[in-house]
Amino acid sequence: MTPTTMAPIKSVQELKGAPEEYQTALRKIVRSHAVNELYGAQVFDEPAIALAPTPYAKWLTCRVAMEEYGHHVRFRELGEQMGIPAAEMTPAGKRPLSIFEFPLKTWEEFCVIKLLADLAEILQVEDLLSCSFHPLRNLARMTMPEERFHAQFGKDFCTELCRTAEGGARVQDAIDRYYPMLPAFFGKAGSKNNEVFRKYGIKQRPNEAMRADYVTRARALVQDHLGLRLPEVAPEAA
Ligand SMILES: [Fe+2]
Ligand SMILES: [Fe+2]
Repeated sequence: MTPTTMAPIKSVQELKGAPEEYQTALRKIVRSHAVNELYGAQVFDEPAIALAPTPYAKWLTCRVAMEEYGHHVRFRELGEQMGIPAAEMTPAGKRPLSIFEFPLKTWEEFCVIKLLADLAEILQVEDLLSCSFHPLRNLARMTMPEERFHAQFGKDFCTELCRTAEGGARVQDAIDRYYPMLPAFFGKAGSKNNEVFRKYGIKQRPNEAMRADYVTRARALVQDHLGLRLPEVAPEAA
């Protein structure tokens, strides 16, 4: 389906006159970002401060945690302006993405999550950079440099860990356990929600195209850059 040329909606005020289907679709996206940013900050980024091995690593991890909580705050504020009840924008009562059900135990796990889960987040945010709803597009533009910093943080610390055989083995073990949950983050092929998002120019690409792009970019990082193995994930499991 080719996206329609939806006239840009420049403000939350203007949104009130837009089709109900468009408003509902936007609420879904804003709510899911608000929930996932908070979930991730609570389950991964804040606990990682205690696991970081050096003052320098703790300092950067604090910055990452601050920014992830900040992303939740920004998405929640936009959601509130759009009329989403605050209770719907916290993890309480929401079925979490599977990755959030495995609490962080090691520093290597955190570095791998930043390397690979934040790469997935970058693809999602990139897709919103030309969103027809300008407040969401602007939020994506503000968030993007921070998500890039998080992924770079993951890449830098994983690279450092992989300098020793033992460190490389721990990074590989974390990749083997966390990566298989990530391709599912992009949703099902042929998704009805995604069709609506594209119809209104909220998102630009089908889920399956984003997932294929993600797997290619993850493979370049894990295999070509780190010299490790990326587990095969069957498309039907993704
Ligand atoms: Fe984030
Ligand atoms: Fe992030």
